[in-house]
Amino acid sequence: MALKLAKPEPPMAPPPEDSRGRNPELEERLRWFPPNTHITIRGLDKAFGDTTIYEGFDLNIPRGKITSVFGPNGCGKSTLINMISGLIPYDGGEILFDGKSLSETHISYVFQNYREALFPWMRAIDNIHYPLKLMGVPAAERKRRVDALIESFDVPIDFNAYPYQLSGGQMQTICIMRALVVDPEVLFLDEPFSALDYEMTLLMRDRLQKIFQERGTTMMMVSHNLEDAVWLADHILLLTRKPTRIADMVAFEADRPRTATTVSDPEFVRVQKHCLEIFLKEASVR
Ligand SMILES: Nc1ncnc2c1ncn2[C@@H]1O[C@H](COP(=O)(O)OP(=O)(O)OP(=O)(O)O)[C@@H](O)[C@H]1O
Ligand SMILES: [Mg+2]
Repeated sequence: MALKLAKPEPPMAPPPEDSRGRNPELEERLRWFPPNTHITIRGLDKAFGDTTIYEGFDLNIPRGKITSVFGPNGCGKSTLINMISGLIPYDGGEILFDGKSLSETHISYVFQNYREALFPWMRAIDNIHYPLKLMGVPAAERKRRVDALIESFDVPIDFNAYPYQLSGGQMQTICIMRALVVDPEVLFLDEPFSALDYEMTLLMRDRLQKIFQERGTTMMMVSHNLEDAVWLADHILLLTRKPTRIADMVAFEADRPRTATTVSDPEFVRVQKHCLEIFLKEASVR
């Protein structure tokens, strides 16, 4: 199979659809994500009652890349990452990580609702330590890993504070650090910035990028915000309305580290515009 299939060539006009609304050219392109597929999804089915969300859904998620998931309200973005990460069951199909099952794979998840995600009776630092404790990592090694992460994040947070003493952005930072401290093979994030103000969002996406550059963790991030989705991503997975299909998988290949001004680079503007055009075809707002 041809390696050139990995990247769409500019200009990125959407490939043609057939009469059933499928997109054979895109499906062929996505069938194989060379050279480095991490998560393989084949024939995934999911319904809630009579409502079909996914039917025969195929997707390849590349290793060591950030894939953003963007699509209309209620199309099944959370459902998708929740199925992949094992939080909810699926009705049919197969999801493999490097050919392995989820139980043989080390994953982490950052929930949208950070207020309920931290243990309120534990100081921030103890929240970060907690998963390592569960894994039985010795205290000295735990301290080494947590200290290294704190140094790398370099955020102005009192790690001895309890969650109720922290701002929303600080709490979400602790959640992200707690997810990263175990050094997962895959990190799932469901709208990690949705409750943060703009300044905190810029800080958090910068820190996520920094960790990504240091570790190369495969990340899959749902975002409601197209700017965040494109800024962090190597690929933006655009979903259709229900029953949900892939509308496009768009590459954004700007060098890292990306900065706050990346959003005004011509390539960023081009990719964001393309994503917006695809999104508007699917969304109820035109
Ligand atoms: N447990 C459930 N029971 C019934 N329907 C559900 C359940 N969870 C999700 N749904 C429905 O499935 C669809 C997809 O939900 P999901 O939360 O995955 O969408 P989403 O794309 O993440 O939406 P949003 O943009 O609002 O975050 C929605 O129509 C939702 O109402
Ligand atoms: Mg959601």
